[in-house]
Amino acid sequence: MRRFCVNPADEEEEGNITRRRGMDFEIRSRKLEQEKLSSVVKKVHRKLRKKYVQVGDFEKIWQEHCADEQTLNSYAIAMKTLADNHWTKNCESEGRIEWCRRVCQDYFLDGGMKKMLEKDVRSSSHALNKSPPNELTHKITSRSDLHSGKIRLLDVGSCFNPFLKFEELFTVGIDIVPAIESVLNCDFLNLQLLQPLQLASDAVEAFLCELHSPVEALPAQLFHVVVFSLLLSYFPSPYQRWICCKKAHELLGLNGLLLIVTPDSSHQNRNAPMMRSWRTALESLGFRRYKYKKSSHMHMLAFRKVSLTTTSDLVSNNYPEMLYIPQDFHSLEQEGLDGEIQMRSDLEDDQIAHDFTELPDIPYDSDSEESQSSIDPIDELGEPILFEF
Ligand SMILES: C[S@@+](CC[C@H](N)C(=O)[O-])C[C@H]1O[C@@H](n2cnc3c(N)ncnc32)[C@H](O)[C@@H]1O
Repeated sequence: MRRFCVNPADEEEEGNITRRRGMDFEIRSRKLEQEKLSSVVKKVHRKLRKKYVQVGDFEKIWQEHCADEQTLNSYAIAMKTLADNHWTKNCESEGRIEWCRRVCQDYFLDGGMKKMLEKDVRSSSHALNKSPPNELTHKITSRSDLHSGKIRLLDVGSCFNPFLKFEELFTVGIDIVPAIESVLNCDFLNLQLLQPLQLASDAVEAFLCELHSPVEALPAQLFHVVVFSLLLSYFPSPYQRWICCKKAHELLGLNGLLLIVTPDSSHQNRNAPMMRSWRTALESLGFRRYKYKKSSHMHMLAFRKVSLTTTSDLVSNNYPEMLYIPQDFHSLEQEGLDGEIQMRSDLEDDQIAHDFTELPDIPYDSDSEESQSSIDPIDELGEPILFEF
């Protein structure tokens, strides 16, 4: 009988090829699943925008949208599956949730707020042309109790409660369609605001523990942090974004933080005017910028509440309109429900980039006096697919 002699090196090579094929297949099917889920999410955003362009009345289309349980449920399932099976598995560097957490820690636990308050004192003394009053600087620098207990964080549009796992945070997640039980049902756009509670920290936490769905009203000045992670771009109208920011202002205590994450896969400078416009709008509400970061697919903004009051002539100055996003200007054809969005041509991109050459390459955070790295890649593999509108 003839015996075949198998070369061990060939055998190993063959094994490697089979393994590589298996891995390629797995990557391809994961990518396919990811694309399917992302398209469920994107379709909901586009459908809302399309209706808004056609009907105009955002309150009417919002009511209809919230009544469409089937669409909302498939959206919630798609978002949660993306988060569970795709984003977390591929996340190697700091993602949006980790960025928000780090900003909270820096600000409340590692002296960021104290630094800002000292800076405020210095700036106002400088404006008045005299040195800061001793008792004021002393009051700030000796306040080791700037934050005690947990950081109370309201996550609006929480979906799958990504902040719940962090020990230092007391998280309340709300959503129009919670994807998991710990998130409370609440339409933030229609949330009523009540008089602030006059309670100690532990009593406030006890009050929050008692909340149940649906949440229809909350006392003002209840939270240290309000997070809008991928929330504002969900809304088809800048006015809805504005209502949310105004509510966040009222729900925050003085010196609280509003953290906004909003998708944008384009180059850092391409939407710089939009970010400036957002800054003006938010500052008119009584916020001041604390941190800004542009990652490959997102803008991440931290604003602190520096004033209890807002500018009086808000609407006449068109501040709400300033909270625009690029998709607000897409035509109906561009928003075709299944078709691809027509992006600007390279030539148009170059022209726009040229117009923005006055911007520094490394963004300078005027408030924290820090330079921030221009592009800090975020390796959440699923996100480019989701965010390229
Ligand atoms: C793109 S998802 C973002 C989920 C999560 N925050 C994240 O960063 O992955 C937007 C979420 O906002 C929720 N949402 C939209 N409008 C809302 C509103 N008016 N009140 C509360 N949640 C809302 C949606 O149901 C959805 O779960």
